[in-house]
Amino acid sequence: MPDIFEITHRDSAGRIGRLTTPHGVVETPTIMPVINPNIQTIPAKEMKDFGARILITNSYIIYRKPELKQRAIEEGVHALLGFDGPVMTDSGSFQLSVYGEIEVDNAEIIGFQHAIGTDIGVPLDIPTSPAADHTLAAQELAVTNERLMEALELNKDSGMLLAAPVQGGIHPDLREQAGRELGSAGFDLYPIGAVVPLMESYRYAELVDVIVSAKKGLPSSVPVHLFGAGHPMVFAMAAALGCDLFDSAAYALYAKDDRYMTAEGTYHIQNLKYLPCSCPICSSHTAAGIMTSPDKTELLARHNLYVTFSEMKLVKQAIRDGNLWELVERRARIHPRMLDGLKRAVTHADWIEHFDPTSKSTFFYCGPESTHRPEVMRWGSRLERLELTGTVLIRPGRRLKNESEYDNVLHFKPPFGPYPVELQETYPLNAEVPIVPDHESLTNALLNTKKLMQLNPEAEFSFVYHKSWDHPLIDEICQMASHSWSVQR
Ligand code: GUN
Ligand code: ZN
Repeated sequence: MPDIFEITHRDSAGRIGRLTTPHGVVETPTIMPVINPNIQTIPAKEMKDFGARILITNSYIIYRKPELKQRAIEEGVHALLGFDGPVMTDSGSFQLSVYGEIEVDNAEIIGFQHAIGTDIGVPLDIPTSPAADHTLAAQELAVTNERLMEALELNKDSGMLLAAPVQGGIHPDLREQAGRELGSAGFDLYPIGAVVPLMESYRYAELVDVIVSAKKGLPSSVPVHLFGAGHPMVFAMAAALGCDLFDSAAYALYAKDDRYMTAEGTYHIQNLKYLPCSCPICSSHTAAGIMTSPDKTELLARHNLYVTFSEMKLVKQAIRDGNLWELVERRARIHPRMLDGLKRAVTHADWIEHFDPTSKSTFFYCGPESTHRPEVMRWGSRLERLELTGTVLIRPGRRLKNESEYDNVLHFKPPFGPYPVELQETYPLNAEVPIVPDHESLTNALLNTKKLMQLNPEAEFSFVYHKSWDHPLIDEICQMASHSWSVQR
C-alpha cells in the first residue's frame, strides 16, 4: 500500500503534508471543524467556503439517536452531514470521560463507523485525566491499547483509516511508550488524546511535554492529530512540534458564550467597541450590531471559524518560508503561560533540531527566548569542530585595520558568540539581531567564547568587546585571553 501521508515541506519539527483518505487528499496542517449532527451552527455544506477540507463528527451521537442512526446507515455519514470531502468520526470516548459510562462497546462502535462510511475512524480509547497518577494512567493506557489493537484487527480490509489515540496522562514516559507501541503497529493517524483539560487550564508547559513525548515514541513519518485543539493561539506551537491535524468545536462553543476569537486571544463581544478583523462578518457588522443580532451565535461562530483558518494559513506559510519558530515566539506573548510553554519547548531544542532544516530564511532574534532556539544550540555544539591554532582575533562588528595579521578572525555576535567571518552570510549566523544584546544572548555568546578558548588551549586569543557590555563573564574571558580591549560601538 502506498503511504497515506507524504511530507512536502519542513520547518522546526513541523511540516506540510498530504494525507490521502478515501474521499480525497487533504493538505496538512489543517483544522477539522467539529460538526454536531444535531445542531449545525454553520451547515457542513458551507464548510469548504471557510477553507475546511475535512470535517470531524461524533459517531456515538449519531449511533444513539435512532433517526440519525438509520439515515447514516442508509445514506452514509457524508450525505447525513451534506459534505462530500473526507469525514473523521470520533467514538464516544469524550462522552465516556465526561459521563463515566456509555451504551456502546469498542467492537460495536468500530462496526458502526464502517457501516456509515467514515474516512477515519476512532476506537473507544480512555481519555486519561491529567489528575491520574502514574499507576492509574498506566492501567488506563493498557486498556486503551488493548482496544486499539482489537480495532486494528476488526479494521483489516475495511478501507477505513484507523486512528490510534496516544494516551498516558501527563506522564511523559507513558506517552512515549504508547507512541512507540502504537507507532509500530501500523495505524493510519495518531491523535494525541486527553489534552483538552490541559489547554482549558492554560497548562501549556505540560501540553508541550505531552506532545513531545508522544512524538518521540512515534515514527516521524506518521500524521499526528492534536485532539480537541481548536483555539488558533496554540496552532503555531503545536504545528512547530509536529502536529498535523487539529479539530475545532471551539469556534461554535466560544460563540455560544459570546466569545470572539483572535489568534492573539479571546474577547467577550460585549467588551468590544471595534472588531479587529476584516472577515466577511466583521466587514459587514459592528460589535454592537453582532451583540444585538438574533443571529449573534452564528455570526460569532462564522467569525471564529474565519480567524481559525486564517491562523492555520499563516502557520503553513511560515513553514514554507522557514520562519515558523518566529511565529511561535510571537504567539507565546499572548499569555504568560504560553511563554512557559515556549520555555518548556526550548528545553526540547535538541529533539527539534533533529528535524529542523539546516538552512532556511534569516533567523530573527525576537527576545531572550530566541537564545535557546535549536539553531543557537546547534552552533554551540559545532564549536567543538572548530580547531584553531596560532593567533585568534575575536571581535564584534566592524573589521580592524590589522586583521590580516591574525591567523584566524572570528566575528562575535550574540547569541551565537564567535564564528569564522567566512560564515557570516550563512544560516543561522546571518541572523538579524538587536544592536544592543540582551543579557540572555550575551551570556550564551560569552559562554561559547569561553568554551572555544578552553577547547583550543594552544591558540593565542585576542578578545575585543563593546565598552557598553556589562557582564561578569567579560572579566573572566579577558583573564583567559592573551590580549583584550574594549571599543566604542
Ligand atoms: N476528544 C478530545 N480528546 C479526546 C480523546 O482523548 N479521545 C477521543 N476519542 N476523543 C477526544
Ligand atoms: Zn471577523
